Amino acid sequence: MDGNGRWATGRGLSRVDGHKAGVKAIRPVIEELDRQGVHIVTLYAFSTENWQRPSDEVGALMGLFEQTIILELDEMHRNGIQIRLIGRREDLSDTLRNLVTDAEKVTANNQKAILNVAINYGGRKELVWAIRELAGAGSDLAKVEEEQISAALYTAGLPDPDLIIRTAGEMRTSNFLLWQAAYAELYVTDVLWPDFGATDVGLALDEYRKRTRKFGAVVPS
Ligand code: FPP
Repeated sequence: MDGNGRWATGRGLSRVDGHKAGVKAIRPVIEELDRQGVHIVTLYAFSTENWQRPSDEVGALMGLFEQTIILELDEMHRNGIQIRLIGRREDLSDTLRNLVTDAEKVTANNQKAILNVAINYGGRKELVWAIRELAGAGSDLAKVEEEQISAALYTAGLPDPDLIIRTAGEMRTSNFLLWQAAYAELYVTDVLWPDFGATDVGLALDEYRKRTRKFGAVVPS
């Protein structure tokens, strides 16, 4: 969800105002994805590197995460959405960690859609933690298989992403789902996240549907 800062400074607003506008953009995007048949979505909200931002911006983002869970949980639960945190929860404040854990518990049996929220998430760290977990559980790392690593990631049991949408024109993956995104289709748009809406979802999915996915093989002509 890139471009909140640019969206705000372009309007003479604070970066935090940009993040607030970014929060407002989320619901219509998820609703349109759902309408178009995409029922598993991951929002990259805060990376393990984002702690390096100024402390007032980090504090404001953490406050927004808390506020959004409080405001949106009931509606998401009514809509059958299962919420999951992907990221290292141990480093979050007690308040945010408890809110997230409660949201996960309340929505655990919902089946209509899965919304992963990546907070304090980093793909490299996720792999390090997964390997440590396997070692701690007594797995023989000299014989480790792909399936074991997949099963030790935050996304265990979920399919790999088919499409990654990056807003604000950045041509990087920025440590997002490094393992899982091996064959994901990338779609980059110049639209800044707060301006990204249902029409932009449609454009991204139209582009995705035109792609030929070969997974490294040859597609018969
Ligand atoms: C990147 O834009 C955006 C972020 C680091 C924060 C994204 C978080 C939200 C939109 C809030 C989401 C809330 C929930 C509950 C999921 P940037 O600040 O790097 O923008 P810039 O590149 O233009 O400076």
